[in-house]
Amino acid sequence: MDILETLDELVDETRRRLSDIAEEQALEALRIDVLGRKGRLSAIMGRLAELDPAERPKVGEKANAVKQACTDLIETRRKDIAARKEEEGLARFDPTLPGRAPWQGSLHPTTCVIDQLCGVFVSMGFKAVSGPEVEHDYYNFEALNMPAAHPARDMQDTLYITPTTLLRTHTSPVQIRSMLASPPPLAVIVPGKVYRRDSDLTHTPMFHQIEGLLVGEGVTMAHLRGTLTTFVQAVFGADTRIRFRPSFFPFTEPSAEVDISCKLCGGTGNCDGEPCRVCKTTGWVEILGCGMVDPAVFEAVDYPADVTGFAFGLGVERVAMLKYAINDLRMFFENDKRFLEQFL
Ligand code: PHE
Repeated sequence: MDILETLDELVDETRRRLSDIAEEQALEALRIDVLGRKGRLSAIMGRLAELDPAERPKVGEKANAVKQACTDLIETRRKDIAARKEEEGLARFDPTLPGRAPWQGSLHPTTCVIDQLCGVFVSMGFKAVSGPEVEHDYYNFEALNMPAAHPARDMQDTLYITPTTLLRTHTSPVQIRSMLASPPPLAVIVPGKVYRRDSDLTHTPMFHQIEGLLVGEGVTMAHLRGTLTTFVQAVFGADTRIRFRPSFFPFTEPSAEVDISCKLCGGTGNCDGEPCRVCKTTGWVEILGCGMVDPAVFEAVDYPADVTGFAFGLGVERVAMLKYAINDLRMFFENDKRFLEQFL
């Protein structure tokens, strides 16, 4: 057969073979067989050398046309196959199936608890403020009646950045900053992160506190007790009991720790005959430290001698654990979606 006829025949042959092809893969195999580097067209072109040089341009031109024709045939088929595939896919699509809901983010339980607790105090007239986490030792210790040699300033307990700057160990430095910023009367509530060199099952190096400070004329421990009772009952329910235990903090005098009746065992100390894990059978759990502002603190901020005030500080994660009956502190920091999704 003459080379020009062979070329024409290649187009016909390709057309014939295509009619049997229904899959992308077989189509690609055909394309390689016809147009590939070692394919049929290449083989025919290999014979170009045998031709009279005068005939070559004509044959070359023909070869290009054949290549284009075969390519068009194959690409048309490729589109047909894709269109058929899509139709089949649509036939399998059931529009009555329920949709996949987009993933919904939510506030972290710690944030929810902070918002709720601060909300209770804001509703009583306290103003929410904040302060720096990197703090000068003057605000964290010195002005809070903890001079240089005080044991609470130990390197074992505090994360120092320089000998005089540190990560605040409590939110109490914001008491000092608030009083320096405005004269009495004053009522502030201060949520924030605090840092301690402590890490085990029940302690993390960072946790959250909420500080409260109220200063004015004639403020007494009865105001403190009333404020905290209102707070505890708003958060834990009206049947929750509260008790004050004498304690010590350098910046309050007198000082107390506040316990609430255990939510898990209802204050009985046992749960269905088992000793209560949360209150360790005492029926009470500690939730905060508090007291009347020490006169030495008022002196440090140059407040008049006739004002009095109370302050308190509570651990947010601790309250959250009691409120939601969570028994492992690490849950708050691991960001396990299965845990977080329970607070949507
Ligand atoms: N700052 C104290 C602590 O972190 C708590 C506290 C605050 C106690 C205010 C009394 C008054 O333990």
